[in-house]
Amino acid sequence: MKIKTLTELSRKSSHSHEEFFDWWTYSLQDGEYFMPPELLSIYDTPLYATLSDPQIRELTRIESIQIIYLYAYTESVMCYYLARHLVKSDFGSEEHAFVLREQLEEYRHQDMFLRWLEILGMDFQPMSRFTKWWTWLEAIILPAKYFFLLQITIELISREMGRLIFSDHRVNQLVRDISLMHEREEALHIAFSDTYLQRSFQDAGFFVRTFGGICMALDIAFINTFYIYPWLYKKAWIENDQLFYREARKAIRKSLVKNMLTWSALEFLRKYDWITWANAGIWLIFTWITREKIYGKN
Ligand SMILES: [Fe+2]
Ligand SMILES: [Fe+2]
Repeated sequence: MKIKTLTELSRKSSHSHEEFFDWWTYSLQDGEYFMPPELLSIYDTPLYATLSDPQIRELTRIESIQIIYLYAYTESVMCYYLARHLVKSDFGSEEHAFVLREQLEEYRHQDMFLRWLEILGMDFQPMSRFTKWWTWLEAIILPAKYFFLLQITIELISREMGRLIFSDHRVNQLVRDISLMHEREEALHIAFSDTYLQRSFQDAGFFVRTFGGICMALDIAFINTFYIYPWLYKKAWIENDQLFYREARKAIRKSLVKNMLTWSALEFLRKYDWITWANAGIWLIFTWITREKIYGKN
């Protein structure tokens, strides 16, 4: 899709969350989930079967808070980078116009996430100093094509997660509405990143694709570590929190691939051929995806 068309679509269709939601009418009801339990880090392990319903509901609240905080944080890093990109692009060019729109939307998303957390609870685990320093460094040193690659990884994961959340009627209405609105606007950002990456990686050789693939695999692994902490389980009245933490760390790699990097995200990997024989080991260790899985050989 042409960048000009994306800018026009954004101008016509994007909303302020204040227009879209009546924030004061939402409330939390007994018995509802805050994300589908199938997305929980501990789902699909023998330990999950030992949890009571209230514990599962509380875990969906606590994990969703951590994920929203993660989105808000990564979007602030994106804005940091996009501001840098905006200064470098020609004022009035197609790219400049879209990056300006994207930045406006991402700031509004962060404000929306903050409002959401004020309702769901602000008890998240803040990023470690190292993580903050590392993400800031990435926004400063990475060339544009690698940064847009990292950005699309997070956007694809948030899109898949958003789809699963808003189509699930067991989930709290506010969470579903926010997921739908966010997913709609993110679709344009994904289309822009895709156009940018097509241009940048069109004639990319083996080494550039291998390096790009390593960045993407590490980014996925990094995202995992952002939201799994032993205290998550303690908050859901689980006594053996360390054991749950260890099992969740193992299970999340598989469930991330199963739930969040589904068909459409895998299409990107296939299109750009980002998994090469030289980085397949890194993909396997950090994400469980192999070339064979991408090309359907098993
Ligand atoms: Fe966003
Ligand atoms: Fe975005």
